[in-house]
Amino acid sequence: MSSKPSNCHDLHIADLKAMQDFASRLAAALQADDWLLLEGQMGAGKTTLVRSLVAALGGDERLVSSPSYALMNGYTCQLPLWHVDAWRMSSDEDFDNLGLDELGQGAVVVVEWPSRIPALSTLNAWRLDIEVCSADERRLSLHVPIGRIWHG
Ligand SMILES: Nc1ncnc2c1ncn2[C@@H]1O[C@H](COP(=O)(O)OP(=O)(O)OP(=O)(O)O)[C@@H](O)[C@H]1O
Ligand SMILES: [Mg+2]
Repeated sequence: MSSKPSNCHDLHIADLKAMQDFASRLAAALQADDWLLLEGQMGAGKTTLVRSLVAALGGDERLVSSPSYALMNGYTCQLPLWHVDAWRMSSDEDFDNLGLDELGQGAVVVVEWPSRIPALSTLNAWRLDIEVCSADERRLSLHVPIGRIWHG
């Protein structure tokens, strides 16, 4: 019997297309006020996943760029989507200054490098860890928020 908690799912992603398919399934599960925390090394595919999420939510994926310098980008989709890069932040205060308490209301908030922000560690959020296996292959570890179900 597996010791893995039932709200954790491991998935193997063979290539970019499989990642896009996963993003479509995840987009279908996301609801207003959900947070998605994306872990994974540089080049793992965090921004690429956001691009596919925006497309799956009916937004224009061509507009999606890395928020490394802007810190946060917003996209008009079925649900408003905020994409944050916390790489250059070092405190809860830096993060609070983004104004997501208000802007995030009714939206989906996706954060790259959430480990930089201590306050996010206790959030009841979707958490996705993207591990690079090869140029195109990824291993995903998805943690589903309490009270929600992942149908895969
Ligand atoms: N299966 C895959 N899933 C995601 N990206 C993939 C996959 N296969 C190849 N790639 C490529 O890997 C790169 C991922 O870059 P991306 O900018 O999304 O990474 P990132 O995790 O956001 O990096 P950073 O931490 O620097 O922001 C892209 O060029 C993408 O096309
Ligand atoms: Mg990125």
